[in-house]
Amino acid sequence: MHNKFLGLTPPMGWNSWNTFTWEINEELIKSAADAFETQGLREAGYEYVVIDDCWSEKQRGADGKLVPDRYKFPNGIKAVADYVHSKGLKFGIYSCAGTHTCGGHPGSFEHEFDDAETFAEWGVDYLKYDYCYKPDHIPGEILYKRMSTALRNCGRDIMFSACNWGGDGVYKWIRESGAHLFRSTGDIQDSWESIKRLALSQIGNECYGGNFCHNDVDMLVVGMRGGSNNQWINSSEEGVNVIADEGAAAAPKIGGCTDTEYRTHFSLWAIMNSPLMIGCDIRNMDSVTRDILTNKEIIAVNQDIECRGPYCIRQWNNPENVFALVKPMSDGGYAVGLFNFGDRNSEMSLQFWDIGLTYASGRGLEMYDCWNKKDLGTFTERFVATIEPHGCMMLRAKVVKAR
Ligand code: GLA
Repeated sequence: MHNKFLGLTPPMGWNSWNTFTWEINEELIKSAADAFETQGLREAGYEYVVIDDCWSEKQRGADGKLVPDRYKFPNGIKAVADYVHSKGLKFGIYSCAGTHTCGGHPGSFEHEFDDAETFAEWGVDYLKYDYCYKPDHIPGEILYKRMSTALRNCGRDIMFSACNWGGDGVYKWIRESGAHLFRSTGDIQDSWESIKRLALSQIGNECYGGNFCHNDVDMLVVGMRGGSNNQWINSSEEGVNVIADEGAAAAPKIGGCTDTEYRTHFSLWAIMNSPLMIGCDIRNMDSVTRDILTNKEIIAVNQDIECRGPYCIRQWNNPENVFALVKPMSDGGYAVGLFNFGDRNSEMSLQFWDIGLTYASGRGLEMYDCWNKKDLGTFTERFVATIEPHGCMMLRAKVVKAR
C-alpha cells in the first residue's frame, strides 16, 4: 500500500443501496457524484461514491471476469470511476465473500485475487464485501483475510469495507484480517425503531473500533423520508433483509423519520465513530437534510484523529432511555452527546466527576452546542439539560479554569 493513512478515520461518502437498491445505472452514479459538489458534500468531507449490489451481469464472462450490467453500465465501470475521479472524489464498488451477492449476482468466492485485480484496473478505491451465500465449510475469517490480502497486493490502494453484520465473532478477528471497517449490525431501515435498535446494539462495543478498522453501524438513512424503492427498508419490522425481486414494482413511499430523529441518528453515528455513508437521494435533498449532513462540528467529532470510542453514562433515574455518550477528543476536551430514546421529555444530568473532572480541581467545562451553534457558557460539577423525546444535544466541551 502506498497510502499509509488509508482508513485512519472513518470513511465518509454515499452508497446507492438504501434509496435505489438494484435500480442503479451510470447516469445515477454520475449525477450522485455531481451532487457531492453542488450540495456541499465534498466540501464537508464526503469522499466516496459507492455502488452497492446489482451492478453486474448474473454470469461471469468466458474469461472468468466480472462483467458490468450492459444496460445499467453500457460504458463499463471504469468510465464511471473516471468520472468520479474527475470530480476529485473516490470510487467504491461491492462484492461478496460468498458464491453470490445478496442480490444473486456473482460473488468473489474463489475469485478473490482476480476480482481484486479487475477492481484495480477499473480504478476502484473502496470495496464493500458482503456475506451472503458463504460456503459452510470455510470460516468467514478466512474469506475476509483472502480478500484483504488480494486487495493489499492488487497494485492500488483500496479501502476494504467488510460486511458480515456482526456475525461469527467478527470483533475478535476483523482488525487482524486487514479490513478498514466492518459492519457490526444487520441492515438499517428508515425508521426510528431501527435507528434505536442498531445504536443500542453497539453500546459496549466501543473498544473494538479504532484507527484503521472502524465499527460500521450501517449506512445513514438521514433524509430518506420513506424514499426507498425497497419495502423492507421503508418498514420498521425487525428481521432479515429479504431482497425483493429485481425489477419489482417500486415500493410505496412510507416510513421515514422526523427531523429530530434524523438529527439524533446522525449524532449517534458521528460520536460512535461509525463511517458516515449517506443513503438518501443526495441529488434532491431538502435543506434540513443538507444542514444535518454537513454540520461541521458534528462531522469533526466523527473525524477526530484519535478515534477514541465514547463511553456511556446512563441517567440514574431513567437508565433505559436516557444516557450520555462521552468521547475524549484529541484537543484535550470532550464531545458529549445527550440522548433521549424515550417518548417524553427527560432530564439528563452529566456529573463531571464521572468523566474525570473533580470540583476540587478548580476546572470546569466550557460548553458549545453543536446543533444550535451556540456557546452555552462554563459549568462546574455538572451539566443538566432537558432532552426532547427521540432527541439529543451534542456538545463540545473544553476544560477551563473555573476559579
Ligand atoms: C446486504 C447488506 C446491505 C446491502 C445488501 C445488498 O443485505 O447488508 O448493506 O449491501 O446486502 O444486496
